[in-house]
Amino acid sequence: MAKNEAAWITAPAAYPFTVKSAPKPKPGPGHIVIKNAAVAILPKNPVDWKIQSLGRYLDKYPFILGEDAAGIVEDIGPGVTRYRKGQRVIAHCNSLMTQDPANAAFQLYTVVTEALVAELPDGLTFEEGSVLPLATSTACAGLYRKDYLGLPLPVVGGAKATGQTILIWGGASSVGATSIQLAVASGLTVLTTASAANHDFVKSLGAHAVFDYRSSNVVQDIVNALANTKFVGVYDAISEDVSFKAISTILDGLNVTVNVASVLPYDKPTERFAPKADEVIFVTVLAYSIIQDPHCDIGEWIWGKYVPEALANGTFKPKPEPVVVGNGLQDIQYGLDIQKKGVSAKKVVIAL
Ligand SMILES: NC(=O)c1ccc[n+]([C@@H]2O[C@H](COP(=O)([O-])OP(=O)(O)OC[C@H]3O[C@@H](n4cnc5c(N)ncnc54)[C@H](OP(=O)(O)O)[C@@H]3O)[C@@H](O)[C@H]2O)c1
Repeated sequence: MAKNEAAWITAPAAYPFTVKSAPKPKPGPGHIVIKNAAVAILPKNPVDWKIQSLGRYLDKYPFILGEDAAGIVEDIGPGVTRYRKGQRVIAHCNSLMTQDPANAAFQLYTVVTEALVAELPDGLTFEEGSVLPLATSTACAGLYRKDYLGLPLPVVGGAKATGQTILIWGGASSVGATSIQLAVASGLTVLTTASAANHDFVKSLGAHAVFDYRSSNVVQDIVNALANTKFVGVYDAISEDVSFKAISTILDGLNVTVNVASVLPYDKPTERFAPKADEVIFVTVLAYSIIQDPHCDIGEWIWGKYVPEALANGTFKPKPEPVVVGNGLQDIQYGLDIQKKGVSAKKVVIAL
C-alpha cells in the first residue's frame, strides 16, 4: 500500500482543505480498505459544503469529509466474506456516523464497513459508480424504514405493481433520481417534479408522471393527478421552504394524512410540520440508519443484494450522470466550490 493522503478540514469553517498525509488504514472486523479511484461531492445544497462552511455535524477536528467512493479493494479485515482484494466496489463512507476520519471518502485509502459496500460491474466506470452510495442510503432510509414510508423492498428487475402511488419531490436531484428508481422497483407508481428540461430524464428512470415545479399550477395539477389514487406518501428530496409549502398545500387539497420523508429538517414549524397524532407526519431521513438497529434488514437487502444485482443487470442505474471536474485530492475543494453554485441533474465527481 502506498502512502495515504487526505484532503483535511483542519478547523470549523476552514477553507480550503489541506492536502497532507493521513494514517495508513487498517481494516477491523467486518471492514475493508478501498483504494479510491473516484469520489463524488453532493450537488447543490450539499452536506459536504454545509459542514465546511457552517461547521455543522462535526465536533472533531481535524477531520476528513466525503461520503461517496468508488475504487478497488486493497485489504480486508477479519470476518469479511463478501469481498476480496482487487475487486471493484462502491461504498457509502460513513465517517459522520462513526466520527472517525478513516471512514471518509476524501483520501486515497478509506476504511469502510462491508455493510455499505457493493460490487461495481466492469461495464460501469468508477466515476459513474461514485454517484450512487450516499444517495442510495438516503433514498432507502426514507422509502423503506417502517417509521418513514415503509414501502416494500425493491426487487431486482422490478416488483409486481402494488397499485400504490408515491410523490417524489425533486426527481432530478441525486437523492430524487435514486428514489424514483427504487420506488419503481418496489412496484409503486411514481409522480415527481423537475424542471421542464429534466422531464425526459426522470421519465427514463421510471417516473410515471412529472410536473414542472416552477409552474404556477403545479400544486393543483398534482392534487388532480393524486386524487383517486392509492396515495401512500411523499419523499421530499429537496426539503426547502418551497417544497415543504407545496407538499403541505397538496395534502390539504387532498385532505389526506400520509407520511412525508424529508432530507432536511424543517426549521419553521407550523401545525402541519410539527405533527400531532392525527396530522401529517414529517420525518427527517438519516441515511446511515439503514445499517443500525432495528433497520439493519434494509441495509442488508439493499447493499448486500439489490444494489450489486440490479447494477449488474442494468436495472439500477448510476444517475444523475457524473461531471468530472478534477483529478486528485487537491481538486476536491474546487469540486465543492462548483457544486455550491448548484448543478442540474448532475453529480460533481473528482477522479483520484
Ligand atoms: N438526511 C440525509 O441523510 C441526507 C443525505 C444526503 C443528502 N441530503 C440532503 O438532500 C438534499 C438533496 O441532495 P442532492 O445531492 O440529491 O441534491 P442535488 O442533486 O444537488 O439537487 C439538484 C437538483 O434539485 C432540483 N431542485 C432544486 N430545487 C427544486 C425544487 N424547488 N423542486 C424540485 N426540484 C428542485 C433541481 O432540479 P432541476 O435541475 O430539474 O431544476 C436539481 O437538478 C440536500 O439538501 C442534501 O443536503 C440529506
